[in-house]
Amino acid sequence: MMFKASTLAAVMISAFVAVGSAAAADKQCGADRHVAKGIQCEMCHGPDKANPKEPDIKVCTQCHSTKALVEKTKNVKPHNPHMSPHYQDQLDCINCHVMHGETENFCDQCHKFGFKVP
Ligand code: HEC
Ligand code: HEC
Ligand code: HEC
Ligand code: HEC
Repeated sequence: MMFKASTLAAVMISAFVAVGSAAAADKQCGADRHVAKGIQCEMCHGPDKANPKEPDIKVCTQCHSTKALVEKTKNVKPHNPHMSPHYQDQLDCINCHVMHGETENFCDQCHKFGFKVP
């Protein structure tokens, strides 16, 4: 990643692609995709802009019901990412769905499930 020198260019490019092609949308982070759907920063971070709160599972599940999620991904192979014998459906979402950077496959610290986390 080339952060320092090209930060401004990167910001300009991402502002540009935000209204651009679907292919470019793949490169947006999860927070950008939420904002593009009309979800404000405050809906995840609370009203105090100077001290954004890190959203925990309670915040995410206000909009994404865990029950519906578990059902939706029940046929993902080799295992449902939203249900496990260790955490059931209560693992904090952002262990995988990092919102301002690369997503992570939390389970693969120990397993080889190869999940593609959006
Ligand atoms: C869908 C929920 C969501 C939305 C919308 C969102 N964020 Fe975040 N934000 C997160 C999560 C989760 C983290 C924790 C780190 C991560 O996942 O990248 C975070 C981290 C941050 C941090 C770092 C805070 C810290 O203490 O490390 C800042 C600053 C921030 N977000 C600002 C914003 C701004 C500004 C917006 C609106 C443009 C925004 N966020 C929109 C979920 C969101
Ligand atoms: C205020 C409601 C709201 C909150 C809070 C929220 N989301 Fe979302 N989320 C949405 C909407 C709306 C979509 C877009 C759904 C669609 O396109 O069908 C979405 C889409 C997603 C997607 C689909 C893939 C993508 O990125 O486009 C994931 C994953 C996701 N959210 C995870 C999270 C996580 C994790 C949190 C908590 C950090 C969170 N959401 C908080 C409303 C919310
Ligand atoms: C262990 C990693 C992991 C955790 C933790 C996790 N997810 Fe996911 N999530 C995934 C993967 C992998 C997918 C893609 C599944 C697939 O291949 O269809 C996904 C897909 C999604 C989607 C898109 C579903 C769809 O097909 O429309 C949403 C929304 C979502 N997750 C929200 C959440 C929320 C909210 C939480 C916390 C309650 C959460 N996830 C916790 C890994 C995770
Ligand atoms: C810190 C290490 C660790 C993490 C992280 C972890 N597991 Fe496991 N998991 C294990 C161990 C150890 C076993 C027991 C060994 C066995 O029976 O294979 C196990 C067993 C399992 C099993 C039953 C055996 C099997 O392979 O079918 C499932 C299902 C499973 N884990 C799913 C998950 C899911 C889904 C995640 C992510 C949400 C996850 N695990 C995260 C260590 C971990």
